[in-house]
Amino acid sequence: MKRAIKNIKSLVLLVTMLCFQLGIAQTVVVPADKKAKASPLLFNDAAVKDGETIYTKNCISCHGNPSKANYQKSMSPVPGDPAEEKFQKNSDGELFYKIGVGNAVMPMFKNVLSEEERWKLVGYIRSFNKNYKQPPLEITVVNLLSKTVKLSITYNEKNHQIAILAKGKVKNDSVPLKGSEIILYAKRYFGRLQIETVKQTNQQGAVLFDFPKNLPGDKAGNIELIVKINDELFGEITVSRTLKIGIPTNKPSLTEKRAIWNVNAKAPIWILLTYTIGVIGIWAFLIYIIFSILKIKKASKKNN
Ligand code: HEC
Repeated sequence: MKRAIKNIKSLVLLVTMLCFQLGIAQTVVVPADKKAKASPLLFNDAAVKDGETIYTKNCISCHGNPSKANYQKSMSPVPGDPAEEKFQKNSDGELFYKIGVGNAVMPMFKNVLSEEERWKLVGYIRSFNKNYKQPPLEITVVNLLSKTVKLSITYNEKNHQIAILAKGKVKNDSVPLKGSEIILYAKRYFGRLQIETVKQTNQQGAVLFDFPKNLPGDKAGNIELIVKINDELFGEITVSRTLKIGIPTNKPSLTEKRAIWNVNAKAPIWILLTYTIGVIGIWAFLIYIIFSILKIKKASKKNN
């Protein structure tokens, strides 16, 4: 009996190894919680561009250029084109997981690429899918009272509104934060600009803010939003999130121009001049004193 089990065991092992050798597709089983996992980072142009760089370095050799179907056709199983349905029908969490674990042929990237890099790859793969819309990003925060709050912040382009949905975790249940005070700010050079007034979340834990249409952002139009929540049960929480909702503005950054607050090389000319003249003056004075002392010495020697 023992021997039979041993034989079966070695047979299973042999078949598995054979499958690996032949490259028979080993369907990667993605655990449910991994499948549902959403990207913590926004798939904006910058993320997609980074994703492209990472893809070119690590993936192009097998998968080719997405949407060009120029992947390694001699491989078995074929790697496939990431722009195709076979890839795109995966959830974001599934893509992320599959990139992490690899498969019989594809290497495991968990230990090669950081989580951020792997999410950027997912963003890049999604950029070839016109029908894809990234689910609202959820931010999980744990406040001073060690209570967990989940926030999703979405922007509606049509009516320039920011929707904030706040949920808290009580034991294992997710409950909306009802009637909590919410203040929305947009970060500016100095300080914050409050958007509308202090508002209160409704029964669903949601609140809407009308966002100004013409607020300048950075070069890409990014604006950092700061959300402050005050809830009786969950306490006070502040989170920030950058969204591409401003007018792209090519203003030189505060540290680009010469200014008192900048690094040495970019200090204002008048400070550099004053400083240089001061230093030269002091050294000149010291040298003058040394010369005078030498002169006095010489003079006293002559007298002797
Ligand atoms: C050595 C070749 C090779 C490299 C390098 C490689 N892959 Fe793969 N990849 C494959 C093969 C082969 C499959 C399996 C296709 C199958 O099982 O049908 C695969 C499958 C996948 C899948 C699963 C698709 C599905 O059907 O669900 C994803 C996602 C993926 N690769 C992404 C990537 C990314 C991103 C990179 C770069 C970080 C990468 N791969 C690098 C060969 C490779």
